[in-house]
Amino acid sequence: MEKVEIVEVGPRDGLQNEARAIPVAEKVALVDCLSRAGFRRIECASFVSPKWVPQMAGSAEVLAGITRAPGVLYTALTPNLRGLDDALAAGAGEVAVFGAASEGFSRANINASIDESLDRFRPVVERARAAGLRVRGYVSCVTDCPYDGPVAPAAVARVAAELFDMGCTEISLGETLGRAQPEAVAAMLSAVLHEIPVEQVAGHFHDTAGHALANVDAALAQGVRIFDASVGGLGGCPYAPGAAGNVATGALAAHLERRGYETGLDSKVLEEAAIMARGMRT
Ligand code: HMG
Ligand code: MG
Repeated sequence: MEKVEIVEVGPRDGLQNEARAIPVAEKVALVDCLSRAGFRRIECASFVSPKWVPQMAGSAEVLAGITRAPGVLYTALTPNLRGLDDALAAGAGEVAVFGAASEGFSRANINASIDESLDRFRPVVERARAAGLRVRGYVSCVTDCPYDGPVAPAAVARVAAELFDMGCTEISLGETLGRAQPEAVAAMLSAVLHEIPVEQVAGHFHDTAGHALANVDAALAQGVRIFDASVGGLGGCPYAPGAAGNVATGALAAHLERRGYETGLDSKVLEEAAIMARGMRT
């Protein structure tokens, strides 16, 4: 059976958006449960400004508190060198820089133009790679932006190529609003795949309008075999008003398995984690 990797992002993309201040111990319990499900990567930390995203303030404590499962990388978001140094000190196994294909979202999310953000990421990626870490490069708003409207595929391909050329080991394409139709995803991917090998591309679909699984299918048809998902469908983005959570991990795993792909995930553990995640929601 052909393999598809699901990258679990719920403890970061999901929990960053909850209104309640979730205690570190609850986050640790969720990650420890997810560590038994068979993931190779769990994104569970974000070393951003606590003024911008207070929900991620305990990320170092989360990385210190979890029981690390052999073979699992614990991923952290790192917007700048300070975030990277904190992530390295906390023992993150993979880091991620996060840019956008639209100027409006870039400004709202990280207070920088696209070009300024790329200049900021270059030394982060360089230092992370020198430390032996893999680096994800997220591109947000790959079809639509909450501030600027529709986003041209060429704009996504340009940012993705810059991130790849500076040394990112994988580009995760964020459909941040979760409203795109599969045709728009397909057109965007065609442009990106002119620039980057498909093995190094991941799909990151939010599910506001219920098209996420159709968008996964559009990406599978072009050869993408890595997808981000959130346990229990947790999430959203504080700087994308109205956007709902990522595609739910359990639903994505079941969908992929019905189509004959192997995810290596244990559905019972996923269900246990989903119940835990839903209990953490506000
Ligand atoms: P800024 O205000 O331009 O930067 O923010 P600054 O350098 O002036 O710093 C502002 C304050 O933050 C200062 O503190 C810094 O020390 C502090 P003050 O002097 O005011 O007390 N600071 C930090 N603190 C902790 N860790 C750091 C750090 N850096 C500065 N690393 C900045 C620029 C990038 C820091 C800010 O805009 C930020 O933190 N943004 C993060 C926003 C965010 O996390 N968004 C959600 C994640 S992205 C996402 O969800 C999309 C994704 O899922 C894909 C998709 O769905 O599309 C990935
Ligand atoms: Mg996201």
